[in-house]
Parts: sequence; C-alpha cells; structure tokens
Amino acid sequence: MNKRELELVQTSWEKITPNSDEFVQLFYKKVFEIDPELQALFKRSMGMQGRKIMSMFDSAVEYMGQVDKFVPPLITAGRRHIQYGVNDEDYETVRQALMQTMSEVLDEEFDSETRQAWELAYNSMQDIMKSACHQPPLA
Ligand code: HEM
Repeated sequence: MNKRELELVQTSWEKITPNSDEFVQLFYKKVFEIDPELQALFKRSMGMQGRKIMSMFDSAVEYMGQVDKFVPPLITAGRRHIQYGVNDEDYETVRQALMQTMSEVLDEEFDSETRQAWELAYNSMQDIMKSACHQPPLA
C-alpha cells in the first residue's frame, strides 16, 4: 500500500471508531445476512466479540505500514480462526459485509478511492491470516 492509500484507510477508520458499537452491530448483521450458518461459530457474547474485533482493526490500521507490528498478531489470529471453524471462503463473506457496512456508515465519504484502499488493506490482512492457517505452528 502506498502512503495515500494508508492515509485514506486511517482517516476513514477514525470516522468510524467514535460509533464503534453501531458499526459492529451493523457489520455482524450483514455477515449473518450473507451467510446465516456462520452464526453457529460465534460462541461469545457479541459485545465482547465486537470490542475484540474493533481493537484488532484498530491496531491493524495503526500498524499497516510497519510489517514487524502488523504481521505477527495476524498470524496468531489466523491460527485461532481455524480452531473457530473459519474457512477460507468465509473471508470473502466478511470482506463483503465489511465493505457494505463501511459504505453505509461513511456514506459518500466512502468514495471509490477509499473503497479501493480498504480492499487492499483487507486483502493483506486476510492473506496473512489465511496463510498462517495452512502452516505448522512456529517451534
Ligand atoms: C481480517 C479479518 C479478521 C479479523 C481482523 C478478525 C479478528 C478477530 C478477533 C480479534 C477475534 C477475537 C479473538 C481472537 O483474536 O481470536 C476474532 C474472533 C472470531 N472471529 Fe474473526 N477476524 C477476521 C475474520 C474472520 C472471519 C472471515 C470469520 C468467519 C466467520 C471470523 C470469525 C470469528 C469467530 C467465529 C471468532 C470467535 C468468536 C467466539 O469466540 O465467539 N473472523 N476475530
């Protein structure tokens, strides 16, 4: 990602975080609308779950330009996700839900350049998480 794309992701995320509860609720609603079967994977309360996801995105957005801080937590998260029963295809469902939620919450501020930057950001996150799932744990 270049500097401009990074900046777009960071400034749009700053607009979302003050209303993170609303954002997370809408996001899960969309995930389960696209694939109702995924509800069975979520065992914890949605409130707790939502806070964790928001804080993971917070750190990811903050450290996106710094490989050493960005990659290791996502590798760990990727390994945990396989234990939750998450499949590679589910990342596409979550991508769609995330983009739709961003578009509704940010409205016209989620223009095509910002969307493009978020697509790149999500792709790099999911690539790291998915590849971690298919590798043996580090010794
Ligand atoms: C970039 C993509 C994603 C990020 C950053 C992310 C982040 C997180 C975080 C931070 C947690 C909290 C616990 C932990 O760290 O293990 C979590 C849990 C979880 N995530 Fe994700 N996640 C992503 C994609 C997905 C996808 C595609 C699914 C598929 C449905 C999914 C399903 C779950 C489930 C089932 C849990 C555990 C819920 C529970 O214990 O009730 N996540 N995720």
